[in-house]
Formats: sequence, C-alpha cells, structure tokens
Amino acid sequence: MVVTECPSTKLRGTKTAINYYAGFSEAFVDYAIENSALKEGALILDPWNGSGTTTAVATRKNLSSIGLDINPATLLYAYARLASKQDLKRARELFLKIKKIKAIKPSAKTLTTNAVTFLWFAEKSTYRLNAFRENIFQIEDEFLKNLLNFIAVKVFRMQLDNFLCSNPTWIKRPKEKQDLIEFDFKRYLKDFEVTIDSLMINAKDLSQNPNKLPRLELASSLTLPLKNSSVDCIVTSPPYCTRIDYAIMTLPELVWLKMGVNDINQLRRNIIGTTTAEKSLEEIKLPLKAQKILNLVQAHDSKASATYYYKNLKNYFMKMEMSFQELARVLKKTGSLHIVLQDSKYKDLDLKISEIFAESLEMKGLQVIDQSRYMSGGFNYLRGNKEINEVVFRCRKK
Ligand SMILES: C[S@@+](CC[C@H](N)C(=O)[O-])C[C@H]1O[C@@H](n2cnc3c(N)ncnc32)[C@H](O)[C@@H]1O
Repeated sequence: MVVTECPSTKLRGTKTAINYYAGFSEAFVDYAIENSALKEGALILDPWNGSGTTTAVATRKNLSSIGLDINPATLLYAYARLASKQDLKRARELFLKIKKIKAIKPSAKTLTTNAVTFLWFAEKSTYRLNAFRENIFQIEDEFLKNLLNFIAVKVFRMQLDNFLCSNPTWIKRPKEKQDLIEFDFKRYLKDFEVTIDSLMINAKDLSQNPNKLPRLELASSLTLPLKNSSVDCIVTSPPYCTRIDYAIMTLPELVWLKMGVNDINQLRRNIIGTTTAEKSLEEIKLPLKAQKILNLVQAHDSKASATYYYKNLKNYFMKMEMSFQELARVLKKTGSLHIVLQDSKYKDLDLKISEIFAESLEMKGLQVIDQSRYMSGGFNYLRGNKEINEVVFRCRKK
C-alpha cells in the first residue's frame, strides 16, 4: 500500500463558528476532492456528515453533495456553516422582528410541559426561551430557520458552563432544583445579536446559489436513502470507537428541537459507537480481524469486558460492517472513498481499527490504494487525553 501525505484532518487550532468535537478539517476534504479526478456533474457524499465539513467544502467548490447523519442536531450545524454574509444579514433582520414579539403569559399546564423541555433552566427562563423558540419555528424559510435555531442554541450553551465536565462530549444535568439556571433574557437577546455579528465577520461574501445547496438529510448509514452506483466520491469519517455519546454531546440542540426523552434514548441506541448499544441487532458474520480482537476482548479478565465493553464493541463492528456494505453499494464503479479512521485502545489491547476496517473494506470491493497517518489528540473515554493514531485511506471501487 502506498503511503502518502495529505493535509491533516485535525481541527486543533482552527477557529470555526461550529465547534463540533468530532469534526475534521476543510483542508483535508479539499485535498480529497481535488485528488478524485471528478467529472462535471459529479456527486459527493458524506454518510456521517456531522457538522457538514464535506458538504460545505463541496458547495464552495460548486459541486453537488449529499450530507447524511442520524442526529438531527447535526443538521443545524451543517446548514449554519453554509451561511453567507447575505444570509446572516437576513437572519439578523428576522431576529430583530422576532425579539419584539411579546411572550404571552403561559398557563400552568404550558409551564409544566416547558419545564421538561429545557433541562437546565428555571421556570422563567424556560418560559422565555420557549416563547422565543416558537417564534423561530414559525419562519417559513427552512434555511434561515435552521440558521436561527443554530444561533439560539449556541447562545444558550453559553449559560451551561456549570454543567460541563472534563469529558468534552458530556453535559451534566441538574440534580437539585437550586442548580437550575435563571438568566437575564435581555442579555440573552443581546448575546444573540453579537453572535450573528461575529458570524457575519467570518462569513463569505457570496450569496448561496440555491441550486447548489447540498442535500442535507437525516438517515442511518445502515440503510442509505440512495440508489445503487449513484455516488462518485465519498469523503467521510465514521463514528469513533471511543464511546463518544454524540446524543448527549448535542443534548442542547436536541431539546431545542423538541426531542422528547424517548426519542433521545432511541437515538442513543441507534448511533454507532455509543455507550447504549442496540440489543436487537441481527447477528452477522464479521471479518477475521474484527472477530479476532473481539475474542481477545471477550477473554480479557476485566470487569468492563464481562459487563458492557465486549457487547458494545461487537455492536460497533456489526453496524460498521453494514454501513460499509452500503457505501460499496452506492459508490459508482471506479468511484473513490476517502475515509478517516482512528485507532483505539482497550486496557492493554491495541484496537487497530484502521487494519480491521481495511480488511472489511477490501471484502466489500473497496480497495485501499493509499494511506496517510498522523498522531491526533483527542479525548478517549478510557484513556483521557492522549495522542492516537489517525489514518486516512483512499479506496477505489473494484
Ligand atoms: C466522526 S463524526 C463525523 C464528523 C464530520 N466529519 C465533521 O467534520 O463534522 C461521526 C458522525 O456520525 C454520526 N453517526 C453515528 N451513527 C450514525 C448512523 N448510524 N448513521 C449516520 N450517522 C451516524 C454521528 O452523529 C456523527 O456526527
């Protein structure tokens, strides 16, 4: 296998409006697209689109793209990063109108419902946020609605400092009534305005060409809503094997989008690589390397292996196996796949995810042509902040 050097996938040091913990760099996506010899009309896909780096770069290059993700919160990020100065100007005008709409005094019944909606806030703040949210939800223009929703959560996240912890992907919930936050709503609105202005400073000066907006949708990588052989190039990074809980990481967005407890729990089970593995998954035969590491984990004498780790890892491999099958199905013959993978560790065992997945990909007819390797920083649930091996594979469909 040829070893190359593509731009780092790391986000470290990059300042963006969207701080998605699991995001990769625009420079990497740009390089991947440039090195795919794409013809006019080519279609680019990211089946794990997250904050929409792939779709943003493709759009800026005037290429058609599809970004899919299972988590509704990611749609807010993916839309927001497409916003031009003009879009933000329109969003600002709308915001100034909305903020003047007086909140109607809620009935006792609405107050109880609302209190469930926003976990971290006391009654009055919950009520003001709810009323403000309703006004945003009335906006007909989907793009602007998503953009204002994104900003609304970005600003209310500023209030959540007391609920953050050392794991950057976890947000605590209040234990006692006195932990609930009551904040100055006038200040919230001021911060909202300041946030729009700061986003405007960094935004591109081009109005989006509506024909070139990417297709952004909710979908599971286990069943892609795409035809066979319809995609020219996939640029992506799958969910990590570090037990990041992407649903909790985006809990502020999910509650803002009115997702209830059951829906959030279901999402946690469906997301790949989380701590809450789906139990009802049908058994599928795993490739040799995946099975071998699973056997080692199962035989490990740690308590974690016996209780949850083996189960979760098996679930992770099975879902990834099904997803790779889907990637192979939708990719055109001679199409290319650029995939970023992170190796991991469990106790004293090296989980060489890149080697395990190289075998899986080859078995699906996705031949690894070259690879680049980096050391990447990041929080690992089991090991704290350590450097980990990150690998980029470029594959071709045989
Ligand atoms: C490593 S992140 C991708 C980050 C992205 N490259 C970016 O720049 O923001 C993996 C993404 O996979 C998503 N995901 C997890 N399970 C999924 C599934 N079954 N189907 C689709 N997306 C899933 C997560 O929500 C997360 O956004």
